[in-house]
Amino acid sequence: MEQGWLHGEGFLLCLILYLLLQGRGDTFTINCSGFDQHGVDPAAFQAAFARKAFRPATNVSIPIRVNISFTLSAILEVDAQLQLMTSFLWLNMIWYNPFITWNPEECGGIRKLGIATENLWLPDIFIEELMDTDQTPPGLMAYVNSNGHIKYSKPMRVTSICNLDIFYFPFDEQNCTLTFSSFVYTVEKMVLGMEQDVRDILETSQNIVWNKGEWVLQGIHQMTKMTVGTNDYDQIVFFVAIRRRPTLYVINLLVPSSFLVTIDALSFYLPAESKNRASFKMTLVLGYNVFLLIMNDLLPSSSTSLISVYFALCLSLMVLSLLETIFISYLLHLATTQPPPMPRWLHSLLLHCTSPRTCCLTVPWKGNVDLAHLPGVKESMELVGKVPGPRETELNGCPGSARNQQEDKAKKQHLVHLWVRLSHMMDTLLFRLYLLFMATSVVTVIILWNT
Ligand SMILES: *[C@@H]1O[C@H](CO)[C@@H](O)[C@H](O)[C@H]1NC(C)=O
Ligand SMILES: *[C@@H]1O[C@H](CO)[C@@H](O)[C@H](O)[C@H]1NC(C)=O
Ligand SMILES: *[C@@H]1O[C@H](CO)[C@@H](O)[C@H](O)[C@H]1NC(C)=O
Ligand SMILES: *[C@@H]1O[C@H](CO)[C@@H](O)[C@H](O)[C@H]1NC(C)=O
Repeated sequence: MEQGWLHGEGFLLCLILYLLLQGRGDTFTINCSGFDQHGVDPAAFQAAFARKAFRPATNVSIPIRVNISFTLSAILEVDAQLQLMTSFLWLNMIWYNPFITWNPEECGGIRKLGIATENLWLPDIFIEELMDTDQTPPGLMAYVNSNGHIKYSKPMRVTSICNLDIFYFPFDEQNCTLTFSSFVYTVEKMVLGMEQDVRDILETSQNIVWNKGEWVLQGIHQMTKMTVGTNDYDQIVFFVAIRRRPTLYVINLLVPSSFLVTIDALSFYLPAESKNRASFKMTLVLGYNVFLLIMNDLLPSSSTSLISVYFALCLSLMVLSLLETIFISYLLHLATTQPPPMPRWLHSLLLHCTSPRTCCLTVPWKGNVDLAHLPGVKESMELVGKVPGPRETELNGCPGSARNQQEDKAKKQHLVHLWVRLSHMMDTLLFRLYLLFMATSVVTVIILWNT
């Protein structure tokens, strides 16, 4: 019976009666007698619930004030390519609804009621940077205070657009903006306020952030409001500063790269005559390429970052050192097979630079380097020490020509020596240049990273 009475015309009658009783009086206090004996009477709230489609204001020219705050409880993902930050937050809103008030003394001391939000007018606060549909779950509750203050918290998974700058990856910090604003109510109808100080918001969020993921919440700042115009929407702007935890990237990307480059630099100590040197460096270059391929997933792919420059630098250092080895090998080969006549200036330069008194380039000229294992040198040495061949025995009648030949050979050997010495000098010189270049570029990159 009572249920039937509640619906249809009964409800309308009740509403009219209620409005007649309350009239245009300045209070809309809910008559809650009997709540402590029979529980909350839904009929008592019907009038208030029926108004949920409209902004709860007794005077339409006074804007409703909604105080907001939020708690950032997780930073789930930061997508540098799509420039999106996905976070999870609880948005708290407090506003005043003059139509839902009651006197707690008359109502068995009830001061607070949880009411399903589908019965209430809710402020349409949204985040302007939101790039996804609002996935607020249905069936949430709001707390209504006896003096009409309604407190409503809703969970939000926020995929917000954010200007991500990954130049300093993996030591980057991002600054994402969250702008809270009303969808339809201009500043004449709704104004926003802060429920909590922004420092409290930061403190709560930092205590609550669940995941120890890649990102650390560094700070939350609020911009002073700027909307004053009548047709503007009131908004509150927050800046969320987050910092990446770089350990993963340092261990997986930077350290192996540095090791490979160090090995590459050390491989200059392999003897230049050895064939292993070139193949060793080739292996390093190959290994580095494979490493880059595997680690490519870890790198952000939207724009150039310092780390790509660093990798390119490492690779070019390795390629340069390989080229240097090829050049020195070529020089040594030339020196030992058919040494071209050495220009005078080069000769004097060589003498000047390898003489022990000057130290412009203290080339560790390994004195009597064992040239024996150089193929060309071996041949020429064999030739020198060989008993005269058949052609020479024929010419034995002429001792002068034999001496000439021997002199020629000695000259050639001297030339070979000079060229080999030059190659070693070039090797040392280029090694130092390489070290210098490496040091400068690494220092530059590190300085850039630290700014
Ligand atoms: C409240 O409602 C009860 C009946 O449910 C009625 O007896 C009482 O007079 C009402 N009080 C006021 C202040 O309207
Ligand atoms: C409504 O508010 C405006 C502005 O504050 C005021 O001028 C007006 O008198 C108010 N109206 C009523 C009915 O209180
Ligand atoms: C909102 O905050 C202001 C001051 O910060 C306060 O005066 C006002 O009562 C608050 N409004 C609500 C609905 O809590
Ligand atoms: C974040 O960026 C805004 C401008 O986009 C700037 O006003 C604000 O100071 C920045 N905040 C931090 C902590 O860098």
